[in-house]
Amino acid sequence: MSQDDAKRRAAEAALAYVHEGDTIGVGTGSTVNHFIELLDQKGPRIEAAVSSSEASTERLRACGIKVRDLNQAGALDLYVDGADEADPHLRLIKGGGGALTREKIVAEASRRFVCIVDESKCVRVLGDFPLPVEVIPMARSMIARKLVGMGGQPKLREDVTTDNGNVILDVTGLRLTDPVAVEQEINQWPGVVCVGLFARRGADLLIVGSASGVETRQAAS
Ligand code: 5RP
Repeated sequence: MSQDDAKRRAAEAALAYVHEGDTIGVGTGSTVNHFIELLDQKGPRIEAAVSSSEASTERLRACGIKVRDLNQAGALDLYVDGADEADPHLRLIKGGGGALTREKIVAEASRRFVCIVDESKCVRVLGDFPLPVEVIPMARSMIARKLVGMGGQPKLREDVTTDNGNVILDVTGLRLTDPVAVEQEINQWPGVVCVGLFARRGADLLIVGSASGVETRQAAS
């Protein structure tokens, strides 16, 4: 089974958490693209979605799903999104698709965050995947120096401007044994819009698709 088939399995299993008439948060990426397609094909008819990116908004609208502004929608019951890495405590690295800031906002606004991944995303310790940090353009070099001071190697994501008009630094070399502390530290630096660590508010459920089926995990205590 391909990695993409495993993503689709996880996406399909997430339909069980969606109810008719819901307004749900929808993330970004190839796994979520499967979710949007499956929701359209065989999911319950939702009232609307709050989208985490222009790309997902376009896909949702193409399926005839209404997209609402978060300010109008209020608190959401459910957010469905993928991840680049997930640890056993369901803390995540996200932002490979560049939508980390809006993803974090919609996750924060949601009572339940169901994360959908293929098994290659599951790790014991976060940090092999480069950690995305969205930065206001004028702060790019200053933040890069601070990340080096922390032991990381930041690299500007070439030719990428986020939906919010900012740039992304992808940071390698960080072994994130205390991701909550690192998230808090980086968040404090002026010029940082968002760090792609979802540790303080991780996922509530992790649905893992693989050749052997689908497994639903809760955070290890
Ligand atoms: C986008 C994200 C995605 O959820 C993450 O990159 C996983 O993507 P995919 O489902 O394509 O593997 O955080 O900003």
